[in-house]
Amino acid sequence: MPEFAREVRAGLGRDGQKTLPCRYFYDEVGSALFEAITRLPEYGLTRADARLIRDHAVDLAARLDGPVVVAELGSGGGAKTRWILEALARRGPVTYYPIDVSPAALAACVRELSSVAAVVPIAQSYLEGLREVAARRPAKQRLLLLFLGSTIGNFDRGEAAGFLADIRASLLSGDALLLGADLEKPVPQMLLAYDDPAGVTAAFNRNLLARVNRELGGDFAPRNFAHEARWNAAERRIEMHLRACAPQTVRITGANLTVDFARDETIWTESCHKFHVEEIRTMAARAGFRCEAQWVDAAWPFSESLLTA
Ligand SMILES: C[S@@+](CC[C@H](N)C(=O)[O-])C[C@H]1O[C@@H](n2cnc3c(N)ncnc32)[C@H](O)[C@@H]1O
Repeated sequence: MPEFAREVRAGLGRDGQKTLPCRYFYDEVGSALFEAITRLPEYGLTRADARLIRDHAVDLAARLDGPVVVAELGSGGGAKTRWILEALARRGPVTYYPIDVSPAALAACVRELSSVAAVVPIAQSYLEGLREVAARRPAKQRLLLLFLGSTIGNFDRGEAAGFLADIRASLLSGDALLLGADLEKPVPQMLLAYDDPAGVTAAFNRNLLARVNRELGGDFAPRNFAHEARWNAAERRIEMHLRACAPQTVRITGANLTVDFARDETIWTESCHKFHVEEIRTMAARAGFRCEAQWVDAAWPFSESLLTA
């Protein structure tokens, strides 16, 4: 059984809270919907990230002397990365390895960034992709690894710390990690960012069910599930759920699974943890990184941290 089918079976077939892993949001439709989310007035996160990168790219490049090769975890379309590649390209040719599970996202990177850098797409999950980059990187070049957009927030806090340690294990001393993290802000503002009035985030969330139908022969009726964004104060995270509007039974042939949903039962599809700026430094230090610089956006609290292995 393919990995997607196994994970769907494990997440929906379990007792208690049903789940689907957020990495499966990003098929071609999901990646396009995510791009649309980044343009929503309510979703200030990507614009804050972009402002910080645009304003500090030259300073960032100046802090990394010598030849630098760039890799990015979960690059998406890589639009924000252009400023960093341009700043580094002033010193000489740059190689850029975007790592993403979405072929559509990687194709966008190649299309948009090949005029600035030699783009080598890596269609793998984060750590497998990073290990491949580590094996391919030219000797005597420093690696600048990007993990932008607060994607680190998709991990539980303990997992995030472990993930940073795993990243560190694939880096060499002196390599750098630029880590974007969304900071805690008033709850209504955070909820609106994940439940916009135009319904784009709802479509993004429901597309996961449509993808199960398309790829695994499921018979979900996505409109029978309501999009829900919740603030979990104890865990300091937004949780996205899909709530069954009525009792229903769903058959997913490709996962050899029949699932019953009670009315109001949910599938938990994503967590987006929010951070305090000093928490990033502590977490990074525990994983073996020194914080060289931290920049915070004034309009939408968001931080970029430049960490050295
Ligand atoms: C929230 S988007 C962020 C995109 C971009 N970095 C940004 O800041 O706008 C997450 C990206 O990571 C990719 N992704 C999700 N899970 C992944 C995984 N386990 N391994 C590799 N890529 C993953 C998705 O396909 C998507 O392009």
